[in-house]
Amino acid sequence: MKKIAVIYSSKHGAAKQYAEWIAQDTGADLFSADGLKPRDVADYDILVYGGGIYSGGIRNLDFIRKNIRKKFDGKEILCFGVGITIDNAANREQADDINFTKQMADVPHWYFPGAFDPAKQKGLDRRIVAWVRKMIDDGDANSFGATLAGYFDHGCDLVDRNRIKPMVERIRALSA
Ligand SMILES: Cc1cc2nc3c(=O)[nH]c(=O)nc-3n(C[C@H](O)[C@H](O)[C@H](O)COP(=O)(O)O)c2cc1C
Repeated sequence: MKKIAVIYSSKHGAAKQYAEWIAQDTGADLFSADGLKPRDVADYDILVYGGGIYSGGIRNLDFIRKNIRKKFDGKEILCFGVGITIDNAANREQADDINFTKQMADVPHWYFPGAFDPAKQKGLDRRIVAWVRKMIDDGDANSFGATLAGYFDHGCDLVDRNRIKPMVERIRALSA
């Protein structure tokens, strides 16, 4: 059996929840990306990295991006991103362009639906949400805009354990 590490970067808990479920279902060890160093996961054969998506980018994905060719060479890497717009093909394509190009292009990855609570947004995040919300009102959003406006106004919790199944199957196959 290969050793598996599941690493997460989460602001509001959705990516952490998925990471916990994936670790449970694959017998992996769980790590927060906060303060984590590549040497902390040097002994692992398989690295699963997941984070919340903020303005298109998977949080702290640089932990993988910066190390994939050197310190993580020879390891199996799989990633997931958690967001509230990713059940739309155009939005997934945009997330692919931001996160999975160049050295990340061949990394198998999945997107899982997240959660959003308008009452918990502060500072820059709050301003970004207000700005995107205005773009939707101005008609500058894609076909997902109306759904997103509803999430921004009323909040949403789309987190769903069933969604991890295909990723868990792939991890199990790699670790056998
Ligand atoms: C400022 C801001 C930007 C966001 N940008 C995106 C985005 O580009 N795509 C997306 O699908 N979700 C986006 N979201 C929603 C988050 O991805 C969602 O809340 C997710 O569950 C966060 O994961 P976390 O709870 O692990 O931090 C954004 C949320 C905030 C507050």
